[in-house]
Amino acid sequence: MTYAELLKHLETYGQTHLLKHWDVLTADERSHLSGQIMSVDFAQLAKLRTGETKAVDWKVAAPKAKSPPAVRIGKPWPYDAAAAKAAGEKALRAGEVGAVLVAGGQGTRLGFDHPKGMYHIGPVSDATLFQILLEKIVAAGRRYGVRIPLFLMTSPATNDETIAFLERHNRFGLAENDLVVFCQGTMPAVDMATGKLLLASSSELALSPDGHGGLPAALSRSPAQSIIRDRRLTHLFYFQVDNPLVTMCDPTFLGYHILSQSEVSTQVVAKQDPAERVGVLAEIDGQALIIEYSDLPEADAARRTDDGALALWAGNTAVHVFDAAFLLSAAAGAGELPFHIARKKVPFVDDSGNTVDPTEPNAFKFEKFIFDLLPVAKRTLVVEVTPADAFAPVKNAPGSKTDSPEHVKAAIGAQGRKWLRAAGAEVADGTIVEISPLFALDADQVREKIKPGTRYEKATYLRSDE
Ligand code: UTP
Repeated sequence: MTYAELLKHLETYGQTHLLKHWDVLTADERSHLSGQIMSVDFAQLAKLRTGETKAVDWKVAAPKAKSPPAVRIGKPWPYDAAAAKAAGEKALRAGEVGAVLVAGGQGTRLGFDHPKGMYHIGPVSDATLFQILLEKIVAAGRRYGVRIPLFLMTSPATNDETIAFLERHNRFGLAENDLVVFCQGTMPAVDMATGKLLLASSSELALSPDGHGGLPAALSRSPAQSIIRDRRLTHLFYFQVDNPLVTMCDPTFLGYHILSQSEVSTQVVAKQDPAERVGVLAEIDGQALIIEYSDLPEADAARRTDDGALALWAGNTAVHVFDAAFLLSAAAGAGELPFHIARKKVPFVDDSGNTVDPTEPNAFKFEKFIFDLLPVAKRTLVVEVTPADAFAPVKNAPGSKTDSPEHVKAAIGAQGRKWLRAAGAEVADGTIVEISPLFALDADQVREKIKPGTRYEKATYLRSDE
């Protein structure tokens, strides 16, 4: 594409500033920038920015929201937990379960300059998030006598480093063809005030991953889709890279999903405080959906039922089970999910070629959310778990008040202590015993391996068959 053709194209959308540095670019840089520009849907971006495509007015919709029926801890449900666990274990043993990990995010809040999965989180072992999560998959496979494949979504921001890191560590024990990595798409960042696209360098648009909701589209472009079919996987256990406490391929959760013939099931934790920054599972006019904390009006977050409980109590942990056929059909109609707008700090190169590092949000980023598949599903299910057992995400930088690495390390330590004490071991208060997934995946496996009365008085890492 020539300079004149590009200029004409950009004039239509008021974006000619993208060619400001054309004169100083090499031939390769010009062709790279021109390719990026031509792949942008400028008309769609303009509509997104002005809110023309905004689907829901939450001030109107949220007051109608109520909590969906849910499998709640200690409350009756059509199937008991033992029946659910048996159904989940049967599916696992039959090799019907695959794992899906989304790890394309930029982890800006954590402020770590690598893919978040490479962050060291083991309180004693210093293991990375990837190590803990992948070892959980390996260990779950051993437990049920199968190989559980992992479908790992990266983004251009995380792909190369993630692949190199996992290969360097022999995929933490996963067989080569049990790891399928595929890359999600991107969206340009747009200046909040002017709607102009930002340049990351003189020859490069500022692009960011298109959200975890980019999963169906990324699947549709990748061999992962046919591998899911060829391996006859019927249930996909979806989790995120930031939660090392996840109960990997949780058989009880899988079983509830299977027995309810659900297409999308979601693990939730009970919100304690209306201000908690977590999306809530809700139902509006009989339709299941998740309302992001930033969309939920304060009055609705604080709304209570007659018994004094929060009306919208079900906090999203972002752990799901998808019916594989459902997810693949979503992949076939991949363009469908709506975009959400986030205000973020995005460094950029200005018209004079200077790099600007903003201190306040300056740009709109556009992301799709995986949970927007909920309203599309015919049947959904919500299952409550205890946060101490299953949910401790690393979101924020060290020292933050919530979801910091310190909180997550403490949660891993507390879980180890709880499992050991349940097995009759003595663990001094404050003593951290970290349990490798290869040693035990839950309290039952700890009980099989630990002699009652064993004492732990200093920080310990229990690994393999110690
Ligand atoms: P978050 O919403 O916490 O975003 O992602 P993030 O990018 O990791 O962190 P911040 O907001 O920049 O601080 C939740 C999960 O979704 C994945 C992340 O990797 C994480 O596992 N994700 C997020 C993607 O795979 N792609 C995306 O485009 C965004």
